[in-house]
Amino acid sequence: MTDITHNQRIVSQFTRWAKPFAELPIHAEADAMARTLAACALKPDLSVLDVACGPGILACAMAGQVRHVTGIDITPAMIAQAQVRQTAYGLANVAWRIGDATALPFPDASFDRVTTRYSFHHMPDPAGVLAEMARVCRPGGRIIVIDATPSPETQHAYDEMERLRDPSHTSALTLDELRRIGRAAGLEEMTVDGYRLEAQLDTLAESRDMPALAALFEADIAGGRDRLGVGAWHGATGLRFYFPVSIVAWDCVKGTA
Ligand SMILES: C[S@@+](CC[C@H](N)C(=O)[O-])C[C@H]1O[C@@H](n2cnc3c(N)ncnc32)[C@H](O)[C@@H]1O
Repeated sequence: MTDITHNQRIVSQFTRWAKPFAELPIHAEADAMARTLAACALKPDLSVLDVACGPGILACAMAGQVRHVTGIDITPAMIAQAQVRQTAYGLANVAWRIGDATALPFPDASFDRVTTRYSFHHMPDPAGVLAEMARVCRPGGRIIVIDATPSPETQHAYDEMERLRDPSHTSALTLDELRRIGRAAGLEEMTVDGYRLEAQLDTLAESRDMPALAALFEADIAGGRDRLGVGAWHGATGLRFYFPVSIVAWDCVKGTA
């Protein structure tokens, strides 16, 4: 179901962050991208949908390996960045749509691969979005979700920290929760992989939020207990941490709604 207030929060946040997000090197980091593309099992004749595509980093990376990629996102400023990226890469087989992941504007069984990266933690109803992704994926196709998955022990503290950093954060699923909603959607799990995406805190936060965030990270480092589950440490240029990211790929078995 569409949550209009939350969607406004998303659009506001990602309109402000569209350009910095598009330009931050970690979002195109090579090892993370290689693992993601491997999970997608791409082939030259496939048609792919990237849901909540943002500035099109994953969509453009997939475009070289498939027939066509469609990227859809609710934030027009993100789609504008995706168009910039498409032009820079000279890609002719990519199309962009502005739209809501909770009601994808595509017929059933339209795509061979349906992906979404770093988006479920912004969704009030990730299970509903996964069901939508399954609906537009053809039987025998593949659905791939990439997102931060804190451990059950750190999930609450992680969510609180993330909401402070980004008010459009809802809750990050644990890996077990993500796998469970896949089963509930009638999908057949194929692969589970993951990586630690390292980042510097001040490149991902508004300066007004930095004192409170830095205090949380410093407490974790001083206490040596990693309450946030992000392995915070002092880097040469500032506070660093990692996002614990999982990649889950499912086959869309025949008969899935
Ligand atoms: C953290 S960014 C990730 C962008 C991109 N997937 C990537 O990995 O680079 C999250 C994106 O999700 C989009 N988003 C959040 N909720 C959405 C929804 N309900 N429908 C479509 N897009 C949504 C935001 O606009 C934003 O571009």
